[in-house]
Amino acid sequence: MMKVFEANITHQVSDYLNDNLKNVVSVEKANQKIYDAFGIMYFFDNAEDLQILKEAISIPQNIVSEPDRTEYGDFQTNIELANKVAFHLTTKNILPEIIIEPTCGKGNFITASLKHFSNVKKIFGIEIYKPYVWESKFNILDFYLSNPTEDKPEISIIHSSIFDFDFKTIAKENGTKEILITGNPPWVTNSKLGSLNSSNLPKKTNFKNHNGLDAMTGKGNFDIAEYITLMMIKNFQHQKGNIALLVKNTVIKNIVFDQFTKKYPIDNIEKHCIDSKKEFNVSVEASLFYCRLNSKPAFHCAEFDFYNKSKARPSFGWLSDKFVSNIDTYSNAERIDGKCPFEWRQGIKHDCSAIMELDKMNGHFVNGLKEEVQLENDLVYGILKSSDLKNTVINEPRKYTIITQKKVGQETNYIKYNYPKTYKYLSGHQDIFNSRKSSIYNNKPLFSIFGIGDYSFKPYKVAISGLYKTSHFTLILPQHEKPVMLDDTCYMLGFDKLEFAVYSFILLNCKTTTQFLQSITFADAKRTFTKDVLMRIDLLELAQSIDKSELQIELNYINKTYNFDLTLSCWRDFINEMTPIQMGQIELFA
Ligand SMILES: C[S@@+](CC[C@H](N)C(=O)[O-])C[C@H]1O[C@@H](n2cnc3c(N)ncnc32)[C@H](O)[C@@H]1O
Repeated sequence: MMKVFEANITHQVSDYLNDNLKNVVSVEKANQKIYDAFGIMYFFDNAEDLQILKEAISIPQNIVSEPDRTEYGDFQTNIELANKVAFHLTTKNILPEIIIEPTCGKGNFITASLKHFSNVKKIFGIEIYKPYVWESKFNILDFYLSNPTEDKPEISIIHSSIFDFDFKTIAKENGTKEILITGNPPWVTNSKLGSLNSSNLPKKTNFKNHNGLDAMTGKGNFDIAEYITLMMIKNFQHQKGNIALLVKNTVIKNIVFDQFTKKYPIDNIEKHCIDSKKEFNVSVEASLFYCRLNSKPAFHCAEFDFYNKSKARPSFGWLSDKFVSNIDTYSNAERIDGKCPFEWRQGIKHDCSAIMELDKMNGHFVNGLKEEVQLENDLVYGILKSSDLKNTVINEPRKYTIITQKKVGQETNYIKYNYPKTYKYLSGHQDIFNSRKSSIYNNKPLFSIFGIGDYSFKPYKVAISGLYKTSHFTLILPQHEKPVMLDDTCYMLGFDKLEFAVYSFILLNCKTTTQFLQSITFADAKRTFTKDVLMRIDLLELAQSIDKSELQIELNYINKTYNFDLTLSCWRDFINEMTPIQMGQIELFA
């Protein structure tokens, strides 16, 4: 393999071009020759390209190192996988006349399509990176030189950003034809592009209409592939045809989630899970997303193993107005899908662990820089991280933190006067606080933290790690009468009464809750358990329907294991606490 225009070219192709173009001077003639032989439109953009190519293939090449292409989400699909995808589509009797590869890279989906589909009239490939435009063209030539009898549709490989490309013209000109949109759009998120100062973004980046805070906290983060997939659906929704794109699983989940409000005219939505470690050497769950265009909107997605079709997985999607990850098991726990009467809260966020996370060694606090730290006790609290929440009951934290505020935005001047040692320590590391990247800290008091409020100071808590794949709730007790805090990877309910915390802890760890959470969460999400998920647990319904003897057995077990002496005497109060006040009552006392 050698390189021309920084693109790989096989000896077969370079020999062919050398033999056939060495005496051609006009770019029009050269383009006509390639079109006649292979169907590729405008192979050369200009005479200069023709000249450069002719010179390049007449001399031996050096290998050029690959540039960093992170901002382009560059994970080229290997030809074997592209072939399997195309073959899979033929088993569905898909016979496209028009094929679009929205970000075609080196063109493996195009050559796979040439190999597998027999009725194709036109192919369009769009690609932002010029060397790949060339490599696609060279690969097509190579394909035909090895398979001279294959059909030759008209092929356009276009050097453009997909965000500047006008798909409407293709849709208009081919409105009656069967279309296939296939490929593998870039694997990169808008926030990653932001951190790279990249402009490889759609012009309207806030396409999901998230508000400013969502964007700051990451909720407004989206995958460019999601934008591109939706762009394809919108442009071709009224056209007969299909979409088959390799995307991250989160993209598919988001599209099906948005179906509730958007109602895109797509159906037969399918997710065929691939092994992205094997195919792309990355640890991100990804799948082939398939759907049929121009149909009555479907609201759920059938899931399969791409390599073994018989291994069907649970379907996910909307069941009336509820979004569930496992439609089959959901019915067992559906009755507790509602609204939690208590508010789930995320733990503390400080983005400054080197300074704010402390270990206790031989009676001294030591920070992440291995410095011994002198502090007054008042603002120091025990803190738990996700890894601590494997335990069932905790009253002895491994780590400590400094709680600089009682609520978000509170002035922190008081630390200077009331806690001089703490102030000296914090201000000595002001530079590290100042270098916190997130804009939530801009124009906020010194040493600000987030995820703090009255609820943080509740003595008894029940918490879960958002990062774990299966649900497990932990009971957290105060340490020497001081509440223990949680970090921002965890979610919690806070209580003043130990009994309420223990009752909630039992309910949250019961079989019904576990089944319910299993049927509404996605284990491949970055965060399995989020505030939105936890707020769906109707603890009141659960409490009212739980078998009292089961409750007593659990309580006895907890009493015995952890040396408590708790009874169900507060159960009625617990139920009352969760029961909403009737409107009539409010009006009466208003
Ligand atoms: C994940 S790779 C896949 C390439 C090809 N579809 C395949 O399956 O092998 C994504 C491709 O998108 C291209 N790309 C990134 N941003 C683009 C843009 N704005 N417009 C067109 N192509 C883009 C990258 O250069 C890269 O070739």
